[in-house]
Amino acid sequence: MGEGGAPLAPPPGVFAVTGAFGYTGRHITRRLLAGGRSVLTLTGHPERAGDLAGRVEVHPLDFNDPRRLTAALQEVEVLFNTYWIRFERGPVTFDRAVASSRVLFLAAAEAGVRRIVHISITNPSEESPLPYFRGKALVERALRDLTAAGGPTHAIIRPTVMFGGEDILLNNIAWLLRRFPLFPVLGRGDYPVQPVHVDDVAALAVALADDTRNVVTDAVGPETFPFRDLVALIRRAVGSRAVLLQVPPDLGLTLGAVVGRMVRDVILTRDEVRGLMAGLLVSASPPTGTTRFSTWLRDNAVTVGRTYRSELARHYV
Ligand SMILES: NC(=O)c1ccc[n+]([C@@H]2O[C@H](COP(=O)([O-])OP(=O)(O)OC[C@H]3O[C@@H](n4cnc5c(N)ncnc54)[C@H](OP(=O)(O)O)[C@@H]3O)[C@@H](O)[C@H]2O)c1
Repeated sequence: MGEGGAPLAPPPGVFAVTGAFGYTGRHITRRLLAGGRSVLTLTGHPERAGDLAGRVEVHPLDFNDPRRLTAALQEVEVLFNTYWIRFERGPVTFDRAVASSRVLFLAAAEAGVRRIVHISITNPSEESPLPYFRGKALVERALRDLTAAGGPTHAIIRPTVMFGGEDILLNNIAWLLRRFPLFPVLGRGDYPVQPVHVDDVAALAVALADDTRNVVTDAVGPETFPFRDLVALIRRAVGSRAVLLQVPPDLGLTLGAVVGRMVRDVILTRDEVRGLMAGLLVSASPPTGTTRFSTWLRDNAVTVGRTYRSELARHYV
């Protein structure tokens, strides 16, 4: 509190969010605006502002034009980076996504950005055979190197799979359970998943913006489920009668590809299955989020999975 008990005004300065009209970025942006911050976004989808229309300054997320990125970030104090790709498609590769992330970080440093809050993933590793997790580790290293060279300080936040409506994975599991008589559980289904609410991740990101230390933290929810139990929970919540059938991962991927053709999307990739089955979507650290997936699911059972959410529609049109 300030003098006379008045609430302290937030420090001046603009905050930038890549993908403010996307999933995590939107939650971070809502929190920043609610805290009285000015926000600008770097995005390839300016037309998706929705409830944020007119409240956020919009700039292109164009990695081919670093000078324009630097110009956009001139007045920015903190950059929240949500940029990443889920899978490779055409010219969009993980190597290129790593290079693009470096371009963004350098542009931020050049513009004098004080701090970068970066959204990563649980269990990134430069030794990982999975390009998603390996690429994430390389991006983290690029950020640490930039800080060590006198650039912005950083907070690296590593979420597991996120939920909260508008997510892709858990929503589409519910969608499949609502529509098909059979749901393929890949392998034994005993690999663990520890979902975290997207707004708990956003709250952590916003809280860490005002820190000055370099921080690396997992962002995980309070509940962990074997994958098959998670699917069974969603099945019950949405009133599905689908039979959960254990199938070899290859057969599950084939079935996924068939449904993928129906909805014109990539439902699940081989690498995502490997990551899931290797137990990479859990953390050994204490939970940071308080929202329980089971409670959220109960409260949102009527809406979850009503609409299919397409990765390709979101990012490739
Ligand atoms: N969703 C999860 O369950 C989950 C779990 C763990 C970690 N993460 C990490 O959290 C961060 C945010 O994830 P999110 O699900 O919230 O992502 P998102 O909002 O769908 O996308 C985040 C940003 O990446 C850009 N982007 C995504 N795919 C792209 C592509 N193929 N080509 C070009 N740009 C692309 C988006 O561009 P536009 O602004 O143009 O839309 C946006 O700026 C990512 O780093 C992700 O790896 C997500």
